[in-house]
Amino acid sequence: MGGTLRRVFAPIRIRGVEIPNRIVRTAHLTKLGMGLVSEDLIGYHAARARGGVGLSIMEATAVHPSSVLGLIGYDDSVIPMYAKLMDAIRPLGMRVFQQLWHGGHVYPPPGGRPMRGASALPGPVTGLPAVPIGTEEVGEFVAAYAAAARRSAEGGLDGIEVAASHGYLMHQFLSPLTNTREDRYGGSLENRMRFLAEVLTAIRQAVGPDMPVGVRMGAGQIAGDLDEQTVADVAQRLADRGLIDFLNASMGDYYATHWMMGGMDRPAGYMLPSSGKITGSVTSVPRIVTGRFRTLEEAEQVLRSGAGDLVSMVRAHIADPDLVRKTRDGRAAQVRPCIGCNQGCIARTSGVDLRLGCTVNPAIGREKTHGDDAIGTTVSPRRVVVVGGGPAGLEAARVARLRGHHVALYEGFDQLGGALNVARRAPKTQGLDDILDWYKTEMKRLGVECHLSAPLEAGDVVALGPDTVIVATGADPTVDGRLIAAPGEVVDGIDSPGVRTSVELLTGPAPAAGSHALVVDDVGQYEAVSVAEYLLTRGVDVTVATRLPAFGPLVDAAMRMTVALERLNSGPAGFTVLTRVTLARVRPGQATVRSLVGAADATVPADLVVLVTYKASRSRLAAELAGRVPDVRLVGDALAARDLQVAIREGNDAARRIA
Ligand SMILES: Cc1cc2nc3c(=O)[nH]c(=O)nc-3n(C[C@H](O)[C@H](O)[C@H](O)COP(=O)(O)OP(=O)(O)OC[C@H]3O[C@@H](n4cnc5c(N)ncnc54)[C@H](O)[C@@H]3O)c2cc1C
Ligand SMILES: Cc1cc2nc3c(=O)[nH]c(=O)nc-3n(C[C@H](O)[C@H](O)[C@H](O)COP(=O)(O)O)c2cc1C
Repeated sequence: MGGTLRRVFAPIRIRGVEIPNRIVRTAHLTKLGMGLVSEDLIGYHAARARGGVGLSIMEATAVHPSSVLGLIGYDDSVIPMYAKLMDAIRPLGMRVFQQLWHGGHVYPPPGGRPMRGASALPGPVTGLPAVPIGTEEVGEFVAAYAAAARRSAEGGLDGIEVAASHGYLMHQFLSPLTNTREDRYGGSLENRMRFLAEVLTAIRQAVGPDMPVGVRMGAGQIAGDLDEQTVADVAQRLADRGLIDFLNASMGDYYATHWMMGGMDRPAGYMLPSSGKITGSVTSVPRIVTGRFRTLEEAEQVLRSGAGDLVSMVRAHIADPDLVRKTRDGRAAQVRPCIGCNQGCIARTSGVDLRLGCTVNPAIGREKTHGDDAIGTTVSPRRVVVVGGGPAGLEAARVARLRGHHVALYEGFDQLGGALNVARRAPKTQGLDDILDWYKTEMKRLGVECHLSAPLEAGDVVALGPDTVIVATGADPTVDGRLIAAPGEVVDGIDSPGVRTSVELLTGPAPAAGSHALVVDDVGQYEAVSVAEYLLTRGVDVTVATRLPAFGPLVDAAMRMTVALERLNSGPAGFTVLTRVTLARVRPGQATVRSLVGAADATVPADLVVLVTYKASRSRLAAELAGRVPDVRLVGDALAARDLQVAIREGNDAARRIA
């Protein structure tokens, strides 16, 4: 490294506590324990501690039963759980702080009880009004924060952070937009920050003089919300009164969620234009900055710029727990990149459970058994043939090779990547390039024999004499004209020359600028969004027709839809969305969609109709191999078309299970 990461690896003291380096993981909800500090949660953090992280802030912890998310911090039963966590983490050197949280009018308690907020304003997520916390009741909440802090201290944690960011209760008190109170907690800035100051004072009394206590704050991004100057003023006043030992600067709230965890379209440090204004003016306490940092070089640059004293890398560490260790050891190229898709972590779209996931890291939440460290080398290497060089096949080949098997991968196309090579033709998909580049580098590093332009039939596979075959042959778009809303009908005119699948569109010649396209989205995922953006950037007028109540609802869950819509609406051509409709008829130059909710049919200009439909798995090869080779495993879209996260996980699991 030649000293180039000098600042990253310089320890820093926050109050009495030494943080071994400048890399932080700020709080992030995992649900790995569903409220409790479970073995999985301990394993998750321990893996990042072993990986060299300096400081981790535990996920939002509820201080009061009137708002619940993350861990339950309002009961003494959390104390022995913390102690167990710290027994595992302390020897590894990582410091652990606890974020204390109340969601205010954002997150309701279970059971239909009302939300509690600074004012009666409806929350931006549920649209329901909160019951304002009464003036005399504030003391109960102050005590709740202090009690939760005491539990953290008794459990052996190293520090406390109060969540005063992201539109949660404390932010609601600070913001003139959400605090309309007329008592001593509303009105002037001094009044609006009184609750926070009282909480910090009570926390100090509860935890004693040595424990670091800080705040997370950031500006909102809509008119009238907290601005950077106000946040900086609050932080400075708190610092001047000795109430905070660090400031963790963030950005955004639930009125503009996409700023909180920017997707793959955002550059490293994308929050700095906002958060940097805060950290630029409050310099008397250590400052943490965040926002899609993925490499230690990027972190070093930020530290050098003076914008922060510590750099948070949350999703980067979800993707690779060993980021720091690998980089420190000169193996930065081996760091598995976060692709900023937000599908596994925030949207948790795997459909399997509601725990923290990761599209590119299948070991998430099961580090002890599935981390790369736990792969182990086989004593009886097998000949493994992987058919298909998409993400499922690449991950299977990687893991089988790490286990010491002889691996040969056959890809019918002339390059590795499978459907990623199609997906990455759309704009704003840099993350897909990143993960593909990583797999290509890993194939070379591990010495996986990759045969390109090598489509295999069953006979070819048998002739190779493998012990195990992993079939990862992907899926084809369905073109039978049967759409989900009306599976008993075939769309009239589906065979017209102007009809194409999304894959044909993205891999074929671009349509002429000025033409009109109808994109039929039967799925509700990223693919139709990609198709619409691809067309619009080429000057094609786009109408999206979907059977769903909104365009891209599943992308919305990943906090990527608002920005995508902003781009689509400001593109060089027209963009229209028709919801709750299905394609009924295609004619030269036009198409007709039928309403699913009793409205009139609509005929729209369409030189081109692009179908984004579910895909049919290419599983034939696996069926033909059954009984002809000793062991056949079908994974990824070839088993059932789903997404990247599942493809990678199944490739990983299949390779691990080879005897
Ligand atoms: C436009 C588009 C956008 C997408 N965007 C996203 C996204 O944002 N997020 C997400 O999670 N998912 C996305 N996906 C889906 C994702 O790319 C797939 O789910 C994933 O690639 C499936 O991986 P796989 O390895 O199972 O199959 P594939 O990626 O399809 O790979 C299969 C490979 O097998 C090869 N093959 C097939 N038969 C043979 C044979 N007989 N011999 C040799 N090779 C063979 C094929 O050439 C292909 O390269 C998108 C897909 C598309 C088309
Ligand atoms: C799954 C997930 C859950 C999160 N939960 C919290 C939380 O509980 N409290 C909080 O302050 N921030 C939370 N965040 C925001 C992160 O702390 C961080 O600011 C954000 O991910 C941007 O940093 P990154 O680009 O390094 O991932 C969460 C982020 C993710 C991805």
